[in-house]
Amino acid sequence: MKVKDKNFDLYISSQKIKKKVKELAKQINQDYNGKHLLFISILNGSYVFTADLLREIDLSCEVSFIKISSYSKMESNGNLQELIGLNENIFQRDVILIEDIIDSGKTMENLLDKMQSLGPNSVEVATLLMKPEAIDTGLDIKYIGFEIPQEFVIGYGLDYDGAGRNLKDIYQFKEKL
Ligand code: IMP
Ligand code: MG
Repeated sequence: MKVKDKNFDLYISSQKIKKKVKELAKQINQDYNGKHLLFISILNGSYVFTADLLREIDLSCEVSFIKISSYSKMESNGNLQELIGLNENIFQRDVILIEDIIDSGKTMENLLDKMQSLGPNSVEVATLLMKPEAIDTGLDIKYIGFEIPQEFVIGYGLDYDGAGRNLKDIYQFKEKL
């Protein structure tokens, strides 16, 4: 599969993804039985996962979308991130953040800090994919679809330079980018 100038190999089929999404939803349905949930989906990459996951949720729930803009600052700790579009009051609410992939874990660490400061009753994370570096940060991610190696992936919402989000399956780039 060629996307822009790079070749990618099939990595996780749409059938496997579908099965995993159902499993995650089943877990969430059980864990939050009787509760009213607020899902917060992190754009852009999570839009496909969010749409599929939410259709398997049979709880009373709401869904909202946020965006994180990172702008680099020349300091050793890397990127400063700004949260855009959180219009809901999450005070005393049960929240699940929906993410496509957690790589270094920095985005999620930062976001969880911001969320916690707003006084929710609970915040958990559902991510479709998780890379080893993030596993090592000790971030507490409750719902993980697939743990994958440190390679670049596209499809099912994930992009390479803006392209590839529309692919039904997930593809992997073998060489280092
Ligand atoms: P982190 O802060 O390093 O965890 O970065 C997470 C964000 O980087 C994700 O939300 C994605 O937008 C992007 N990202 C990380 N790895 C990949 C990948 O393999 N493919 C596409 N986007 C990725
Ligand atoms: Mg993302």
